[in-house]
Amino acid sequence: MTSRAETPRVPFLDLKAAYEELRPETDAAVARVLDSGRYLLGPELEGFEAEFAAYCETDHAVGVNSGMDALQLALRGLGIGPGDEVIVPSHTYIASWLAVSATGATPVPVEPHEDHPTLDPLLVEKAITPRTRALLPVHLYGHPADMDALRELADRHGLHIVEDAAQAHGARYRGRRIGAGSSVAAFSFYPGKNLGCFGDGGAVVTGDPELAERLRMLRNYGSRQKYSHEMKGTNSRLDEMQAAVLRIRLAHLDSWNGRRSALAAEYLSGLAGLPGLGLPVTAPDTDPVWHLFTVRTERRDELRSHLDARGIDTLTHYPVPVHLSPAYAGEAPPEGSLPRAESFARQVLSLPIGPHLERLQALRVIDAVREWAERVDQA
Ligand SMILES: Cc1ncc(COP(=O)(O)O)c(C=O)c1O
Repeated sequence: MTSRAETPRVPFLDLKAAYEELRPETDAAVARVLDSGRYLLGPELEGFEAEFAAYCETDHAVGVNSGMDALQLALRGLGIGPGDEVIVPSHTYIASWLAVSATGATPVPVEPHEDHPTLDPLLVEKAITPRTRALLPVHLYGHPADMDALRELADRHGLHIVEDAAQAHGARYRGRRIGAGSSVAAFSFYPGKNLGCFGDGGAVVTGDPELAERLRMLRNYGSRQKYSHEMKGTNSRLDEMQAAVLRIRLAHLDSWNGRRSALAAEYLSGLAGLPGLGLPVTAPDTDPVWHLFTVRTERRDELRSHLDARGIDTLTHYPVPVHLSPAYAGEAPPEGSLPRAESFARQVLSLPIGPHLERLQALRVIDAVREWAERVDQA
């Protein structure tokens, strides 16, 4: 019999298995780029941009260096900068705020729904001022935000929407992909994302050809033609090697997202009804892509230690709300002023999920969580 000590751990996410599954075609694509002698702004990027735009049901994708740059350049491309305000979720990864700060604009945090991790549109309306230029909803954990209500508000107040889709490749809202049509959405291809590369990468998708053209200049020193600089751009290009790898993985994204959904369904039924444990809620008209499977409990740290002792890796997304991060000391609202974000930060725990997590591993997680819940219930 194998002792508990010898049982392999359940990893939070197995990136190496993702490489192994597609190793021959990935190695061939990398070799193709190496052999081509073209490493930036070449045919792989062009091919990926066309394929990713089509996947997102829109016309343009512009590959950049990271998700953070995708957000920042999308905001700059829309002319947002110093003196402007952008509404951001209080509960998100810090990059959503940092991208706004990097343009010189001010991030104005608004709380999520009480039981759902995305922006609450009722609270958004109260935060709009004459300086507000844009809303920046985040499709957190792969769950689409309440886009109809946000679009209605944006239209009524003449605001742009820049969607942070770093965790939502392939998710659908009312049957359409995040990024579809005339949306402006920023994606990250950080290795752990649903569509990830072998380093940093990102893209902005948009239905607006002029914005796409400005973004192509902004990412390449403000230049359309070598040594002609029409604006103060930056260097933020998605390189040929990453683009080639992303093209291969894009063809598998729906099937990989399907495996995530099957595991989420397993967790949702296996963990239903446990006292003191909040499960993720799927909002009506949304098809999430389960970037994360995040539960909530006031006894989060206990649950985390219990799972760790049983060989199960977990993460917290995110342990410190952005307004309490030292990065925003003196600028953001004080402790106690964004109670929903603070309660998410105190309670959230993400269980292992990913296209290479086996069903048996998920069942092991379920057993361990149930064991913890029974113990807590009897205490
Ligand atoms: C919600 C969110 N926004 C933005 C980013 C930034 O993406 P990147 O790490 O590619 O800069 C990330 C991921 O790290 C994210 O999770």
